[in-house]
Amino acid sequence: MVREMNGKPIVLKLGGSVITNKKKPSTPNLRAIERLANEISQAKISSLILVHGGGSFGHPVAERYSLAEGFRDRSQVMGFSETHRAMTELNSLVMEALISHNIPAVEVQPSSCVVTKAGRITNMELNPLKKMLKMGFVPVLYGDAVLDSEKGFAILSGDQLVSSLAITLDAKRIIMGVDEDGLYTADPKTDPSAHLIDQITLEELKSLKHTIEGSKATDVTGGMLRKIIELTLAIEQDIQTLIVNATKSQRVYKALKGEKVIGTIIKKG
Ligand code: IPE
Repeated sequence: MVREMNGKPIVLKLGGSVITNKKKPSTPNLRAIERLANEISQAKISSLILVHGGGSFGHPVAERYSLAEGFRDRSQVMGFSETHRAMTELNSLVMEALISHNIPAVEVQPSSCVVTKAGRITNMELNPLKKMLKMGFVPVLYGDAVLDSEKGFAILSGDQLVSSLAITLDAKRIIMGVDEDGLYTADPKTDPSAHLIDQITLEELKSLKHTIEGSKATDVTGGMLRKIIELTLAIEQDIQTLIVNATKSQRVYKALKGEKVIGTIIKKG
């Protein structure tokens, strides 16, 4: 009898802007990948799912072929292959770092197990992934080009994967590793009164969304807010979500351990 690991999983996202240099095409941030693999290894989490973003690997190729808009002509088919290939390239760097830190990581390719409809996940083969978790493996997924039943294909964000996996697998917590300290009351780059929000409920988040939209804030908070909106469904299911700055040392480690850390906690209520 194989000993099976139990407990609700933690879902950790490593943003593309953390593990790549977003300004240079296909440029990984190997230092960050290495440091994060070490932090994840040190945290020794018994049930963990990792999802990473595309950064300068997936996004530029997907954009070049307008993949997010769905199938329009045959040339995009090659674009799908190239986008997926760019993602597997980045993923292999992440895998190498994880495995060299003794983390039993196994990649799960979204393009092979997910079908979306108008960009939203409708089918996902989860049996192997569930079995992996029970056996103590760390499944690693990433934002990817996927087949779409309405549009031909779509770009599935790592954020949607995080939310969907957290709900389906009844996650203990979601940790979003991004390149900002968390969610601010306003854009900290332009508004000196802006401050970091330690904790916020979904209700409060909705009113903040109105304020930010009303004030036409730049992408710093707007971008982060869009990310969070993707996670709303999971938070509504009472899955606590923590946003931390994964570009800063030890933040992800502390978040995984459940220790006090600079960041923003979002709760249902
Ligand atoms: C995007 O994934 C994947 C592709 C463009 C193929 P994400 O949307 O999760 O990536 P980041 O974290 O924003 O870079």
